[in-house]
Amino acid sequence: MRVMEGEALIPPPIWMMRQAGRYLPEYRKVRQEAGSFLDLCYTPKLATEVTLQPIRRFGFDAAILFSDILVIPDALGIDVRFEEGRGPVLQPVDALAIQKLSSDGALRHLVPVLETVERLRAALPHETTLLGFCGAPWTVATYMIAGHGTPDQGPARQFALNQPDAFQQLIDMLVEASAQYLIAQIKAGADAVQIFDSWASVLDAEQFSRWCAKPVAEIVKQVRSEVPEARIIGFPKGVGAFYRDYAAQTDIDMLGLDWTIPRTFAQQLQKDTPVQGYLDPQRLIAGGAALDQGVDDILEALGAGPLVFNLGHGITPQTPITHVEQMIARVRGKA
Ligand code: CP3
Repeated sequence: MRVMEGEALIPPPIWMMRQAGRYLPEYRKVRQEAGSFLDLCYTPKLATEVTLQPIRRFGFDAAILFSDILVIPDALGIDVRFEEGRGPVLQPVDALAIQKLSSDGALRHLVPVLETVERLRAALPHETTLLGFCGAPWTVATYMIAGHGTPDQGPARQFALNQPDAFQQLIDMLVEASAQYLIAQIKAGADAVQIFDSWASVLDAEQFSRWCAKPVAEIVKQVRSEVPEARIIGFPKGVGAFYRDYAAQTDIDMLGLDWTIPRTFAQQLQKDTPVQGYLDPQRLIAGGAALDQGVDDILEALGAGPLVFNLGHGITPQTPITHVEQMIARVRGKA
């Protein structure tokens, strides 16, 4: 929270995207008990438990609510499933289905997630930041249009170009539902919230501005109109030079960086906005000198300014736990 105010802390606070996940045996155990992935997200006792697991094991400075960005389409009444080895599968929407969607009642469906936030705030040590989150409208919409993940989000890009009015309707509804959802998470006890835009990188300048930056700016505005002091992290993964436009247009409090931008550019961004991330998750899988060098480079490039240490994207299931321990020790100056 202090970094988001612009403070530089030594060592920087640290957490990891997807820190509760399949690389942890204790997660896999609870996941199996829960039945489906969405059952795990909607069972407050179990969702609280898996959120706390990486805090207990590693002592991270922030806990991120265990849930998924696709609970929003689920709450809108769309059939969402997570299939083993295939990832998310949704009932795809077309222009007609979009017209019939309504965000009324979406929050009621998400009450168990809000209960998880309340339980977490009560269970966590005071000094551990609790992060809520949602997906950015564009990224959530890409899954809703295609019905599953794709390598380049071609289906959603075609839809946005061919049927911009229907797509605008979808985005507007996601803005509304996401803003209400984030406000509810903050009121339930989240200290800050992160907006994940994992597919922001596939759009050209005009489409990026229209479908990424503008809707996120609108969410930020709506959240702050209800909670003026709300702290919001934006993560437009892979957007390169557009990072600057995104930070300026959305007015977020902290920028999540992937690992593909030049160091000097990351430093320039940090002059205006606190930053988080920047470590290639492949370095965490590799371990050894590759990991140490990645950590050292980030501390050297960004450690003197407002920085939250994190990966540039989520940790993957094959990552060895010993590498996570190595990273944390290195960041905290103990290795
Ligand atoms: O970071 C955290 O620990 C919080 C929880 C969280 C999850 N997903 C848990 C999860 C968060 C913040 C997300 C965000 C999310 N979900 C994004 C944006 C961030 C990103 O990673 O790009 C996206 C695109 C999704 C959609 C999604 N959910 C996909 C594509 C998948 C399948 C990929 C996979 O690893 O299987 C999921 C499933 C998912 N969400 C898992 C976890 C821990 C793995 C599910 C399992 O237990 O089998």
